[in-house]
Amino acid sequence: MIVVGGTCSQKLSNALVECSGWKMAGLEIRRFPDRECYVKINDNLDGEDVVLVQSSYPDDNIIELFLLQDAISRFDTNSLTTIVPYFGYARQDKSFKEGEAVSARNMAKHIGLISDKIYTIDIHNISMMDAFGKPGSNLSGMRQIGKYLAAEGVDVVLSPDAGSKFRASVAAEAAGCGWDFLEKTRIDDSTVEIKPKNLDVEGKCVAIVDDIIATGGTIIKAAEQLRIHGAKRIIAACTHGLYTGDAIPKLEEACDVLISTDTLETNTSKISMASVINESLI
Ligand code: R5P
Repeated sequence: MIVVGGTCSQKLSNALVECSGWKMAGLEIRRFPDRECYVKINDNLDGEDVVLVQSSYPDDNIIELFLLQDAISRFDTNSLTTIVPYFGYARQDKSFKEGEAVSARNMAKHIGLISDKIYTIDIHNISMMDAFGKPGSNLSGMRQIGKYLAAEGVDVVLSPDAGSKFRASVAAEAAGCGWDFLEKTRIDDSTVEIKPKNLDVEGKCVAIVDDIIATGGTIIKAAEQLRIHGAKRIIAACTHGLYTGDAIPKLEEACDVLISTDTLETNTSKISMASVINESLI
């Protein structure tokens, strides 16, 4: 197998090469003066099983992903597996209001066009995997997050909403502790409300786990509830750390620890998804 690592998934691609022993393809990726993307693959991929790793976020990286797929398809490869560590646009997975684009399905359809298999990681809504139109599967970082939390001495894992409770249960199982969930209502793009709930977290180390942290609003509201109930230590953990605007300083004020995986490469990416990808491909 040979790995083609896109610009926004360099750290993860290198970790994958390290743990799998596969080769890394040489690439030239740059921007023209008008910011259009130029892509060239410097190794011969004829007869190779190619693994392309590139998140579809933000928009520039989606274009790069499409161009990398096109460049790969010009070789006589044996297969192309596209790994989209963070699948952007995933949250617009239906038409919430009349006239809206169903962005997640549209993006998936296009990513699936030039690929034999597709892998995502903790996709926001797993029921839309069929939109890629190709076989593949959705991997999860929750077991890895759970193992990290176990080493931090976590007592209980919470999800901020019912939709994410299966993630809390997987992380808690790996951490060897119990789990629960909160009830979230989204008011607008950057405002959420978390319903007060009786929580047995007095003096405990509590982790809040989610697929995505974007504005940080969800985690900050959840952390407020945990402080009210006397939590001793709060760990915020997510698969995809988007951290828009001033999310990081606000989260650092609200929580004691902030961690994410390397699906998006940030200072909080303490957990690598390389071994999970490796295991799913061998
Ligand atoms: C939404 O349902 C997701 O699972 C996350 O809870 C959400 O995207 C987090 O966004 P934010 O950090 O902006 O509250």
